[in-house]
Amino acid sequence: MDYLKLDESDMVTFSAPVNIAIIKYWGKSCQKLNLPMNSSLSLNLNQDHLQAKTTIATSSTFIKDRIWLNGKEQDVEGNTRLQACLKEIRRLARLQAVKRNEDVHRVTRCSQKVHISSRNNFPTAAGLASSAAGYAALVAALGQLYRVDGDLSGVARCGSGSACRSMLGGFVEWVKGGKSDGTDSIAQQFVGEEHWPELRVLIVVTSAQTKAVGSTEGMQRSVETSALLQHRVDNVVPDRMKALTDAILNKDFSAFAEICMKESNQLHAVCQDTFPPLRYLNNVSEQIIRFVHAYNEHCSDTRVAYTFDAGPNAFLFVLERHLSEVASLIYKIFGPATDNATDFFRGERFKAYQSDLPDFETKICPTSAEYVICTKAGPGPLQLFEHNISPKTGLPLP
Ligand code: DP6
Repeated sequence: MDYLKLDESDMVTFSAPVNIAIIKYWGKSCQKLNLPMNSSLSLNLNQDHLQAKTTIATSSTFIKDRIWLNGKEQDVEGNTRLQACLKEIRRLARLQAVKRNEDVHRVTRCSQKVHISSRNNFPTAAGLASSAAGYAALVAALGQLYRVDGDLSGVARCGSGSACRSMLGGFVEWVKGGKSDGTDSIAQQFVGEEHWPELRVLIVVTSAQTKAVGSTEGMQRSVETSALLQHRVDNVVPDRMKALTDAILNKDFSAFAEICMKESNQLHAVCQDTFPPLRYLNNVSEQIIRFVHAYNEHCSDTRVAYTFDAGPNAFLFVLERHLSEVASLIYKIFGPATDNATDFFRGERFKAYQSDLPDFETKICPTSAEYVICTKAGPGPLQLFEHNISPKTGLPLP
């Protein structure tokens, strides 16, 4: 490509967080618009440990929209979700540019082609919500590039439903809305990332492999075949949402933990009730569930809670004062067979290898997890000033 020399206003970079759902989204009332059957609520995680980082460049010389994920070019024409986001943001941009009486150059710029380069610092498609973080970073960057004001969570939702919840920090609710055009199906911050500073999340990665059946296909199969899903939507989620928001406001860990685990269990019960059934948990995931219940019982107190999305990796919630003991137990039970544990714990630092551990009957067979990321609540999308597209070539930097 010719020497381009993109300037600062032609490139925008945003990072966005991974979110972990506590009240799960599973099932759509409209596939085209990604409208959910029920409202959901999640926590955004700290971007120091898990983030998608997306640079968007625009130039009148670009002949088509192009996208690279982790350096590998992907198809754009056949990607209907990406097309939907691009189309919607350009529509909003043109509308707002005309309203602001901007000059012709700015209005036509909204139609210029883009090059998008996105990178994750965690395994893609392993149940760590990579598409949510990816679409949130993409939409935040497009919004800034095209100078679109107002709520953009509805645009992120067109990319991936759960992505709308990565557009704000802390605990975020995706309100299902009632309009058929989806304009009221948006994300709202419930409380910011500073609300519950003692809360920690241990992500026990039990497999960094891509899942067999993606969420989109899996939930559609549940909508078509699971009777339990409709029961859950009508009779379970509304009360749970109320109880969960109360627990978060009061920082009531026991109440929070119980809802969190029951929600995860119900998601996977719906998966089991789907025909043919969906299985996202693996043997290590099952052992982690057993460990959590055995440990809480041993302590006569709820100190840890698990939740799993459509993948085998466990997201454990624990308060800071119990972090060291819980993590040390995880290392003892699920750590590598060899004593080479230098990078078993990643993310936030803490005292990980406590020796005076409680001895309780877990009936757990020795199985090992791959690694554990320790993290906590974090903010929504952040603008960065280091781009990963070359201003000279318009292509991703290595
Ligand atoms: C189990 O948002 O990935 O993680 O809207 O089809 O892209 P699409 O699905 P996606 O589904 C996420 C499902 C979940 C639960 C949740 O995050 O609420």
